[in-house]
Amino acid sequence: MEERKGRRIIMFPLPFTGHFNPMIELAGIFHHRGFSITIIHTSFNLPDLSRYPHFTFRTITYKNEEEEDPISRSETSSDTTLLIGLLKQCYAEPFRQSLAAEVCGGGETVCCLVSDALWGRSTEVVAQELGVRRLVLRTGAAVSFCVYTAFPLLIDKGYLHIQDSRLDEPVTELPPLKVKDLPVTVTKEPEDLYRILNDMLEGAKSSSGVIWNTFEDLERVSLFDFNSKLQVPFFPVGPFHKHSDDLPPKTKNKDDDEITDWLNKQEPQSVVYVSFGSLAAIDEKEFLEIALGLKNSKRPFLWVVRQCMVRGTEWLESLPYGFLDNIGQTGKIVKWVNQLEVLVHPAVGAFWTHCGWNSTLESICEGVPMICTPCFSDQHLNARYIADVWRVGMVLERSKMERKEIEKVITSVMMEKGDGLRERCLKLKERANFCLSKNGSSSKYLDKLVSHVLSFDS
Ligand code: UDX
Repeated sequence: MEERKGRRIIMFPLPFTGHFNPMIELAGIFHHRGFSITIIHTSFNLPDLSRYPHFTFRTITYKNEEEEDPISRSETSSDTTLLIGLLKQCYAEPFRQSLAAEVCGGGETVCCLVSDALWGRSTEVVAQELGVRRLVLRTGAAVSFCVYTAFPLLIDKGYLHIQDSRLDEPVTELPPLKVKDLPVTVTKEPEDLYRILNDMLEGAKSSSGVIWNTFEDLERVSLFDFNSKLQVPFFPVGPFHKHSDDLPPKTKNKDDDEITDWLNKQEPQSVVYVSFGSLAAIDEKEFLEIALGLKNSKRPFLWVVRQCMVRGTEWLESLPYGFLDNIGQTGKIVKWVNQLEVLVHPAVGAFWTHCGWNSTLESICEGVPMICTPCFSDQHLNARYIADVWRVGMVLERSKMERKEIEKVITSVMMEKGDGLRERCLKLKERANFCLSKNGSSSKYLDKLVSHVLSFDS
């Protein structure tokens, strides 16, 4: 841990697990480098603050004049575009006031703001007003950002409105992507989605730098493509969670111990770990096929089924009668796990994932091959890169998620040879470790980032 610098960094995460986790990890990295950290967080999705005693939290709330809170309306919760649009609108003014209070309140010098790229230009305006420099954190892959920069072209060429029968056609301008890989989200308001993405790009362009949770050896081409298009300083310092010396220790709970005990009883590389991240929802029919596919594969499995993840149900009530008794100790179904601990466990042989960027990176970092079932947004193109570029996983499309197919894919990925998936993934793990080592690219970028931040008030 470096000596305190008498400098404070203000961070403003988007309030979703897949965005909050990397922001908090980055906060840990800065804290270890001697900065004090204040996190401005929305009252929406407020995390358990007692888990982060190293940081100061400021919770912002907004005034709701309407009868029903627009952010918690049910149509909003299933449409992330609508939700992000509303979050940006409702929290703009509370954020401005909170940042102003931090900057003008005396105490340590505020040297910069780090905001999630999806907050867009609104944070830039506020930061400028207050004379604070702003960096953005992009929590997704560099490749997804590059594809977003191509959206005007993709819209122009009609790729984003192609009928279902042509989803397998290549996007010739962006190999190896197919039309179905483009990072779009089903929304009632597609124009809002394009506006949010454009605002994210403009906000990154006008920033003092973009921080990436990725590493150069994984995404060199996309990072340099980004740089040639946007020409702002960029800092691929990831994978954040592997700067382990820099991160405050994680608190554990009883369930984590129970899961570790179960994993300890399994053979090395025998377990299929299944999780579709923090947001994706599935239908009852899909749930049933997954359950039977896992059972029929006859391999131990650890399956995360979040509360209400299966549409129209509370938790596991739509499992076939006697399913849990039948699987006995072979399978374990839980509501949440400490995913980093699971992936690092030697019993885990494969990760069946929705390919959110954090999950993708976390799996690569432990050399665990993936079964890819992308659900929405950037997950589709992450899956294409996992399967066809890095070649560390196999795609099991959601439309083909049926018990026999599931059994087949699990068997292929788990088999000793697995077409070299595990070997390639272990090589990527080595590259990640190399990038994090003293002379590796992520460490050098981190040194540059710290100097960059310190130069702001000179
Ligand atoms: C969302 C989008 O779905 C994704 O496409 C985008 O890249 C980021 O935001 P999410 O669904 O949350 O992501 O998935 P992911 O990016 O993988 O993040 C999930 C995080 O929750 C990971 O850090 C993972 O370790 C953690 N997690 C997940 C757990 O700790 N336990 C679990 O049981 C499940």
